Amino acid sequence: MNLRQLLPKNKKAKILDAGGGTGYCTVPLAEIGYHVALVDVSRQMMEIAKKKLVSMRLIENVDFYRRDLRDLSIFENNTFDMVICQGSVLPCIQHFQRALGEMVRVLKRDCLLNVSVHNRLFAFMNASADEDLKHALKLYNSGRSYWFDFGAKIHALHLFTPSEIENVMMSFRIKPKKIIGKIIAPQPLIEKADLHEISRVAYNMSSVQELLGYAKYLDFTGVKM
Ligand SMILES: C[S@@+](CC[C@H](N)C(=O)[O-])C[C@H]1O[C@@H](n2cnc3c(N)ncnc32)[C@H](O)[C@@H]1O
Repeated sequence: MNLRQLLPKNKKAKILDAGGGTGYCTVPLAEIGYHVALVDVSRQMMEIAKKKLVSMRLIENVDFYRRDLRDLSIFENNTFDMVICQGSVLPCIQHFQRALGEMVRVLKRDCLLNVSVHNRLFAFMNASADEDLKHALKLYNSGRSYWFDFGAKIHALHLFTPSEIENVMMSFRIKPKKIIGKIIAPQPLIEKADLHEISRVAYNMSSVQELLGYAKYLDFTGVKM
């Protein structure tokens, strides 16, 4: 993962995996030796993470909390050496500012917050590629997208521009340090090309600032001032 270069030097550091789900970040972090707090609202997702950690004998390194990220009152201020919120969790949360405020509160000063969010420019291009320019413009101007789950429940998603995520973070006293784009290869290319080669190219292109608009997700890292 790209996060590796940003991780705390101290291997005993405490990391919060906010909306950690099935442990996509927690597992490799626990493998390195960090002490991880995985917070998620979904019991099912956390059960999968627990099973993986038990089978890898890493369960001792992880504490599980079934909580909504908008209320992290179980943790004191300035508890964690790093807070990670990967998998575009934040854009799905109604009143995401409350969750962000809580993540910042529990993070120590001078420590890093890493958050991935949906990219509004990518969503606009995708929608206009379907030749529905009216819909694409509505989506771009509102910064909102909607999707249905299998139970046909409507979910809203906040779409961010690169400058918007930076401004939101600054308003929470998080100074931007790095923003990269997670570039997803188009399906026809995935079907034809070598996956390792695609991943290598996508990884190299992810830090080219001019290409941020092409990235499906924006990966923001900043420091708590
Ligand atoms: C797309 S998954 C990402 C999981 C993981 N971070 C990853 O990168 O694979 C989104 C996760 O966010 C959790 N989630 C959504 N809203 C939440 C909230 N308000 N509080 C805590 N967890 C939430 C979901 O239960 C789900 O596990």
